Amino acid sequence: MANPTAVVTGAGSGIGAAIARELARRGHYVVATDVNLDAAVAVAASIGGRALSLDVTDPVACEAVAGEVANEHGSIDVWISNAGISKMQGFLEVSPADLVRTFEVNTYGVFYAGQSAAREMIARGTRGCIVNTASMAAKQGRVPFLSDYVASKFAVLGLTQAMAYELAPHGIRVNSVSPGFVATPMQERELEWEAALRGTDAAAVRSMWINDTPLGRLETPEDVAKVVAFLVSEDAAFITGESISVNGGAFMD
Ligand SMILES: NC(=O)c1ccc[n+]([C@@H]2O[C@H](COP(=O)([O-])OP(=O)(O)OC[C@H]3O[C@@H](n4cnc5c(N)ncnc54)[C@H](O)[C@@H]3O)[C@@H](O)[C@H]2O)c1
Repeated sequence: MANPTAVVTGAGSGIGAAIARELARRGHYVVATDVNLDAAVAVAASIGGRALSLDVTDPVACEAVAGEVANEHGSIDVWISNAGISKMQGFLEVSPADLVRTFEVNTYGVFYAGQSAAREMIARGTRGCIVNTASMAAKQGRVPFLSDYVASKFAVLGLTQAMAYELAPHGIRVNSVSPGFVATPMQERELEWEAALRGTDAAAVRSMWINDTPLGRLETPEDVAKVVAFLVSEDAAFITGESISVNGGAFMD
């Protein structure tokens, strides 16, 4: 298909921006969406795509964006639910408000966006692809100071499988990627949090994470983006309901 249309959430930063760039490089027309519209605009401008404001915690906004993209471009061929948040603190310190917020963005956001994308794909007979950004913390709970995040990301793997199962009869594939220690603005925040919680500095935490990674370096956003691009390509035509770890061996399942 010439210039399939791809929508990326949380495309204004880090992994989402890299996915937007990689899909554009491989010939997709990319709609970069983010709750931070200025950031999405900057990414879209750099790849000849389009930017839209989207807060994934708002199901009405998800419907509106999916409808607008499908109407203007004829179809949504690829939807990447990548937006996510984290806040590091001990399990006992997580407030109900923090817990709700983490699930609203990381889990409900993937649910709402996936529903909106799938409704448009089904309505137009598009045999599309959806990829959800999960995490190494979606596969193991042996992760310090991120209990709410872990729970929200484990849910993404279950949701990915449930979506894949129900959407398969429509020819829609649904998969997820599970990154490890990726150098992004989220990681910069986590380095500072974990350093404070451990009473050390960010450089020491960074070294710890690299030592935890058999391939011996921090992951780049592009490491993740290339695997997402594979998952939405014809090379992955028979893969659905899968979560591909991209973590340099930091967790092997
Ligand atoms: N960085 C890592 O080490 C790492 C590891 C595993 C998984 N992940 C996951 O990868 C994804 C991207 O993370 P990143 O490291 O690029 O983070 P980031 O903070 O650099 O970028 C996240 C983007 O999501 C946007 N966003 C936040 N809340 C939103 C909302 N409600 N609606 C729409 N957009 C929203 C932000 O504005 C930002 O542009 C997240 O789902 C994260 O959980 C990151």
